[in-house]
Amino acid sequence: MIQKSIQKSGKMEHLRIDSILRKQKIKFKLNGKDTEAYEGETVLAALLAAGQKKIKINPVSRKPRGALCGMGVCFECRVTIDGIPNVRACMTEVKPGMIIETNDKK
Ligand code: FES
Repeated sequence: MIQKSIQKSGKMEHLRIDSILRKQKIKFKLNGKDTEAYEGETVLAALLAAGQKKIKINPVSRKPRGALCGMGVCFECRVTIDGIPNVRACMTEVKPGMIIETNDKK
């Protein structure tokens, strides 16, 4: 059931644990689309919950890549936030009104 849901929508919102007390829902723009997250989440968590697994295109192989370590070491999660390039999504808290662009366009 969960696998079918992921395959259909690509989103992982349902994998959030219900028993965790979450803060306010906030809105931000992801690649031009209105997207929701919760205060306190990292940008990476918000992207994954929104179904955005591709973060960039490998410049050599031209294949899509996603985040790797999730703890600030690999730099594979760099996105553009409010016009500032190469911000690590896993080390940045999502804020209301942020404009986030991934680097996965060819
Ligand atoms: S996922 Fe490795 S630095 Fe962000």
